[in-house]
Amino acid sequence: MRDVLVTENIAGLEMEVLKNTFDVVFEPDLWKSPDRLREMISDFQSIIVRNQTKVTRDLLAAAPMLKVIGRAGAGLDNIDIEAATEAGVVVVYAPEQNSISVAELTIGMMLSLARKIVTADHNTKSGEWKRQGFTGNELYGKTLGIVGLGRIGYRTAVRAKAFGMDIIAHDEYANPDAVMVSELRARMMHLDELLSHSDFVSCHLPLTSSTIGLFDYEKFCTMKPTAFFINTSRGEVVDEEALTKALKDKKIAGAALDVRQQEPPVKGPLSEMDNVILTPHIGAFTEEAQERVVSSVCRDVADILSGKEAKNYFNFSKPKHICQKGGKI
Ligand code: MLT
Repeated sequence: MRDVLVTENIAGLEMEVLKNTFDVVFEPDLWKSPDRLREMISDFQSIIVRNQTKVTRDLLAAAPMLKVIGRAGAGLDNIDIEAATEAGVVVVYAPEQNSISVAELTIGMMLSLARKIVTADHNTKSGEWKRQGFTGNELYGKTLGIVGLGRIGYRTAVRAKAFGMDIIAHDEYANPDAVMVSELRARMMHLDELLSHSDFVSCHLPLTSSTIGLFDYEKFCTMKPTAFFINTSRGEVVDEEALTKALKDKKIAGAALDVRQQEPPVKGPLSEMDNVILTPHIGAFTEEAQERVVSSVCRDVADILSGKEAKNYFNFSKPKHICQKGGKI
């Protein structure tokens, strides 16, 4: 029986500690070969993944020794939670460790869109000095619509308030009397109302059956033609064809996407648009966030393997089955 299988590029101090304490097999490209992963996992007590490894029911069925799945990040959409829970396998993750970084990237995107920083940079480096062509807008006094007022949405709103923005928010699960809503002086509202009032719309939704494709052409048409759309959550929440059409039809002024319907994406019309900023799912990729995320997940995996309870677990703090030589009992 082996200890830890790492299927994506996950590094940090605590990963080194894990490697020195347990038998860790580090295969950063294994997520690209699901058949090989299925063969390898049968011996392992734990697996550590980011968002690219699909931890399906089928994969879990091939993992009789598995006690814990470590997800180095916040989103759990690549893990079949129901199947893991049925199998008695603990799911540990990093629910808030990268939220400051994602919020900061979101603010960076808002500033870049409002001040056309990316296109001004390209233009200036090409030898031009076109000042008037890059007249932008201030964030000050504008309305930011936060869709999904969770850990990242809240932190984005706090930072936007420092720029003098007004906050409105839509969240089906947030309590309108929650102290964070008062603290932000946020008005909670229906999504369509939010879209029609916002100068910037920032999406912070998890991927679920009700959020997939939520931002369709109709939703973009509800926005102001001067408004910008930012998505740092999950790409599948946005219908990219609809977004492309909305941009071409000038239904909105611009967009910034850190996440895509397909990752990595195929090059398409969005890559050709000056009013679109595209980044490769780097919201959580700061040294600080990665150190927190990797530490949290490696510590929890180590604790489970040592028979202790996990701290950042999604389903339960200890495996529901005890692994013995032949698998779970
Ligand atoms: C997250 O879910 O934490 C971020 O999107 C980063 C990631 O998926 O690894």
